[in-house]
Amino acid sequence: MKKNIYISFFTLIVLGAGTYLYINQREVSIEQVFPGKVWAKPIENLPDLKGVGAPTAKNCGNCHTEIYEEWTRSTHANALTDIQFQSELAKPSSPKWICLNCHIPVQNQRETIITGLKNGDYFRPVEIPNPNFNPEMKAEGVTCATCHVRVDSKTNESYVIGGTGGTSPPHPLKIDRDQLMKRCYDCHNETYTLNESLVCSFQTGAELHATKSNQTCSSCHQPEVRRSFVKSSLGKPVRTSHKHGFIGGGVPKRFDLYPDQIRLGYKPGIVLSGIKVSDGSIEIQIKNVNADHHVTTGDPERFYKLKLDGLDSKGNSIFQTETTIGQEWSWSPAAKKVNDTRIPSGETFLWKLKQTDLPVATYVFQAIHVRLKNNTSNYMIQSSGYVSSPYKEQVEKMKDLYPHSSVVIESIYQTKTKSRKDTSLSELFKRNAERKGE
Ligand code: HEC
Ligand code: HEC
Ligand code: HEC
Ligand code: HEC
Ligand code: HEC
Repeated sequence: MKKNIYISFFTLIVLGAGTYLYINQREVSIEQVFPGKVWAKPIENLPDLKGVGAPTAKNCGNCHTEIYEEWTRSTHANALTDIQFQSELAKPSSPKWICLNCHIPVQNQRETIITGLKNGDYFRPVEIPNPNFNPEMKAEGVTCATCHVRVDSKTNESYVIGGTGGTSPPHPLKIDRDQLMKRCYDCHNETYTLNESLVCSFQTGAELHATKSNQTCSSCHQPEVRRSFVKSSLGKPVRTSHKHGFIGGGVPKRFDLYPDQIRLGYKPGIVLSGIKVSDGSIEIQIKNVNADHHVTTGDPERFYKLKLDGLDSKGNSIFQTETTIGQEWSWSPAAKKVNDTRIPSGETFLWKLKQTDLPVATYVFQAIHVRLKNNTSNYMIQSSGYVSSPYKEQVEKMKDLYPHSSVVIESIYQTKTKSRKDTSLSELFKRNAERKGE
């Protein structure tokens, strides 16, 4: 009798432990955990492309020389090597494989294939080596193939997606302009709460739709230019092409990229539509004229800093004040948006201040687009221990290596004559290349 009790007790423990182990170790498919989420998986391994070879940006660049050169200057091309990205990726709280799905989105760029998640837990991916891993392509970030190359499910061959037609490439081609245009939304229009402190909140696509604009993301971020699609030695005609610099907020990922911002199409979304200094008050009007989405958009940590400096007749600064336009989030205990002063498309932000009694002769107004706060980069430097070489050394020097912000509007107002003079964008960007910090 006693023996039987021992046996059944033992069986129960074994069964319990077995069930626990089974549930805990069982592999659940990614589709089951993230149904319908494009970013939950990379684009499948792409076989070599006929007439091109490996589908790397570098190979595309053998013929599409100008487009390749522009793309190498883009944030897309720097989406993996970005120092801030590497710092955040290294945090123990980052589900790294999910981050990589948008920042290096093609399976060929990944050392491993993720076959599923243990017990459906996104911190426990099941990984096997990827026989098609291409280290050169890994460093290319949001590479050409992200938008342009797919596998034909019938022939199992890679082909290029184009938007023009009537062209004669040496590689297989399917024309589907709509698919190319829609691709941006997969990464730039995603809102998802992974857990209390990890949320993804990019709503640029929804903001664009709300304006009823007939523009696409590419209308503004890939400006038109007449040229041959390929190097001139191939003797192809001049057509309507699109710049591939994907310029956004005017704060590039490295200081040496500043000279390319304007060349590749940078324009501030906001304009200074008025400065009014009257007895007792100062009114500054900022209008979102050039962006068919909010300013700022995308990453919730971006914002505009507006600064007003008052100088006396000798040019000494005697008065300073500032305000911000952007979102405010509190990150603990749970991520939550607490304030939002961004400017929707076509709308105006009014900054009203009390006039000072000080003898101000000149006001200097600046609008500064901030990508990264000084406080945040301080924190990243402190926690650089998580990051491995060669990025660790770069994070440690990020104050010198990583542009935090850019001055994109500057206007000098004389109180006596009530006249205003704006600094040119090219002059500002020369200075931005030398400027550090927030
Ligand atoms: C050996 C040269 C060569 C290589 C390498 C090459 N292309 Fe092309 N591609 C061409 C030529 C030639 C055209 C047609 C140009 C024309 O007719 O004006 C073309 C056209 C295109 C078009 C436009 C087609 C259309 O009608 O919209 C796209 C998009 C394209 N290529 C993407 C790529 C991508 C992406 C890669 C790399 C994976 C690549 N190409 C590699 C030569 C090349
Ligand atoms: C759904 C696609 C997607 C996923 C998943 C994703 N990102 Fe991003 N990430 C983006 C896009 C799009 C941008 C650009 C937004 C912008 O410029 O405003 C971006 C930008 C960034 C930046 C640069 C921000 C800046 O202002 O310069 C960092 C850092 C970053 N992501 C880190 C991460 C980390 C860490 C993860 C994983 C926890 C992650 N991302 C997951 C799409 C994604
Ligand atoms: C596979 C995901 C993905 C797709 C698809 C994608 N992007 Fe991005 N994009 C990113 C990521 C990630 C970043 C930011 C990288 C970083 O900051 O490190 C980014 C950055 C940008 C920026 C730069 C923002 C800035 O201020 O630096 C612009 C502009 C942009 N993308 C436009 C587009 C457009 C237009 C399309 C469609 C034609 C598109 N993107 C498609 C992932 C994507
Ligand atoms: C983020 C998505 C994205 C990436 C990355 C990208 N392209 Fe494009 N590309 C587009 C879109 C969208 C168009 C079509 C624009 C249109 O027709 O309005 C296009 C058009 C083209 C064309 C047709 C000619 C033109 O200028 O319109 C060629 C060729 C091309 N891309 C080659 C490349 C090459 C080579 C790379 C990498 C060096 C690359 N693209 C990277 C989205 C992308
Ligand atoms: C009518 C032109 C226009 C259209 C359409 C447009 N953008 Fe922009 N976008 C801009 C301008 C201008 C800026 C610079 C805003 C600034 O910093 O003042 C910008 C900035 C950005 C940035 C950088 C973040 C920031 O706040 O500066 C990203 C990312 C971006 N756009 C993505 C997109 C995507 C994705 C789409 C399509 C869903 C899109 N844009 C459609 C004009 C446009």
